[in-house]
Parts: sequence; C-alpha cells; structure tokens
Amino acid sequence: METALRDGFGRTHRSLRISVTDRCNLRCRYCMPAEGMRWLPREELLSDDEIVRLVGIFARHGVGEIRITGGEPLVRPGLPALIGRISAVPGVGDIAMTSNGVLLADAIDDLVANGLGRVNVSIDSLDPDRFEMITRRRDLDRALAGLAACERYPSLRPIKVNAVALRGVSEPDVLPLAGLARERPYVVRFIEVMPLDAPREWTREAVLSGEELREMIGARWPLLPMAPERPSATGTSWRFADGAGVLQFVSSVTEPFCASCDRLRLTADGQLRTCLFSTSETDLRTPLRAGADDDEIAAVARLAVSRKEAGHGMADPSWTYAGRPMSMIGG
Ligand code: 5AD
Ligand code: SF4
Repeated sequence: METALRDGFGRTHRSLRISVTDRCNLRCRYCMPAEGMRWLPREELLSDDEIVRLVGIFARHGVGEIRITGGEPLVRPGLPALIGRISAVPGVGDIAMTSNGVLLADAIDDLVANGLGRVNVSIDSLDPDRFEMITRRRDLDRALAGLAACERYPSLRPIKVNAVALRGVSEPDVLPLAGLARERPYVVRFIEVMPLDAPREWTREAVLSGEELREMIGARWPLLPMAPERPSATGTSWRFADGAGVLQFVSSVTEPFCASCDRLRLTADGQLRTCLFSTSETDLRTPLRAGADDDEIAAVARLAVSRKEAGHGMADPSWTYAGRPMSMIGG
C-alpha cells in the first residue's frame, strides 16, 4: 500500500462512499421536493470504468471500505456488475450498499453473487399510509419485501434498517420500528434529520434527538449501552436489556462524531467531498477525463483530504445551508 490519506487533524481515511446515481424512485420529504428535482445529465455521471479506476486509486492508498449509495443505487442500470468489478479491485475489503429496498427483492441474489457484503435499508415507517406520507410513494410492501429477501443471506447480517426521525412526524413510528429490531435479525438505526434536504426546509426544532428517542423506547423496553462497533462508528449501539436485539442512534446533530471520521465521499458526477457538509468539492472527473495518470489523481485527492474540515459545526447557531443535498452526495 502507498501512503495513507491523512488529514490535518490526524484522521486516516479508510472508507469511501460512492453515489452511483442522483436519481431515486422515492421522494422522501427530508431529502427531495415532491416534484421538479433536476437530474444530472447522463454524460456527467461517472461511467463504470471511471468508478472502478478511482476505487483502485483509493484502495491503493488504504481506502478499502466501499459503500454504494445514491439517490437509490438500484436505479442505476447494471449495478450488480459494477459491484462485481469493484469487489475484484485489489485492496477492497468490504462493499456495503444503502438502498431504500424498493427494488431490492429482485436484485439481491445478483448483488450478493457479485460480492455485496452488507446492506442498510432505509425504512422510516412500518405503516403503509405513513410510509407514503413520508416518501410520497406507496411502496412499503416492496421495501419490506426487499428487506426480507436479505434475510436469505446470513453473510449480510446484521442487516441494518435506517430510519430518519423527524419531530412531529416520526413519533408514532418509533416503537414499531424499535420492535422490529426485537423480532427480526435487523439492527434498527435512528438517524437525526440533517440539513441536507433539497427544499431547505430543515429546522433545528425538527431534530428528534437520539437521547429523546432512547427515552421513548427505554420507557417501554429498557436499553443498555454497548461498546462502539468501531472507533469510527457513526452510531452508538444499545441492546435491549432482555437480550432481544440491538438499536443504534446516529445523532449527527446533537452528538457529532466528526473527530473520528474516516469517510470520504464521491458524488455521482465525480466530485470528491471530504464531509457531508463541505462547502467545496474537488473535481476528480476532469483530470480523469483529461488523461491524468493514477499518481496525478491520487495527488489531487491527497491535497483535498489534507484540507478536510474539522467538523460540520451544526451546533453553531449561525450555521446555514451549504453545498448539495443528500441525494447528490450519497449518505
Ligand atoms: N437527514 C438525515 N438522513 C438523511 N437521509 C437522507 N436525507 C437525510 C437527511 N436530511 C438518509 C436516508 C438514508 C441515508 C442514505 O441517508 O434515509 O438512510
Ligand atoms: Fe430517495 Fe433516499 Fe432521498 Fe428517500 S432519502 S428520496 S430514498 S435518495
């Protein structure tokens, strides 16, 4: 391996999240407007060859943990084959995917055969009407079928379910979702809503904090803290005191984990982002298409990482929106 990608705060980067498309088949309200999202033109998206080449460059510099995100990754044609090519890149240790599950049931066999190692499925409500209210599509059954299909593959466990929590919206969903972690082999993760929505309607008041959620759930089923999964984990893990399952709380707003961040992000159009909340991006597509060699591209990435921001600063009351929405960055 060549020298690792370290930033000015001593953080070594091991994880790359690749958004393979900005498009999505849902319209979650904390992410997209009901109508009028403008998609990137196809020629601006990185091709499979370009993604695989970048993965090789990052993997040679110690970034071997890959997560495929979107938009919804499964709307990109040929995704299983792309995952197969990524998993064959020397130095790639682990490939995960975050999906909304809607198209997963039909794709999972092909994905696992091509090396997919783990999945996170985003499901914010187990009630069909409430799911539709949040995502603006009537697709709960398909999302749950996608999730259930993952159970056929023990290698994918623990299967993770992502639920974004919104004050005034999510309260009725919290106990049913927590209960899912008691009944099925899923780790349910409650995510504080972040200001990454395209319509820019986020408010601090909308954040239903991890602590509040733990109180709500703990009143019904007592919870006990667990050791972190990894030092760079985004969520704190809690188990039900009666041993029936595990929950995670991704409290990005109220309990930031920037200090141990080892993640980089690549947008679908080939921009490297060192933070979800970066106000600037580093263009890797232009040098890639201009014929730069691997060392030149690695040097551009290294400089970007060396300048990585300390953290997102959302706790600062003067914080305002910056950058691009989640569907263009990739969770
Ligand atoms: N705040 C928090 N999480 C979000 N996601 C999408 N938009 C937001 C937001 N504004 C989540 C999705 C998915 C993951 C990729 O990011 O629900 O689980
Ligand atoms: Fe699609 Fe994910 Fe955005 Fe929902 S949060 S609209 S599933 S990209």
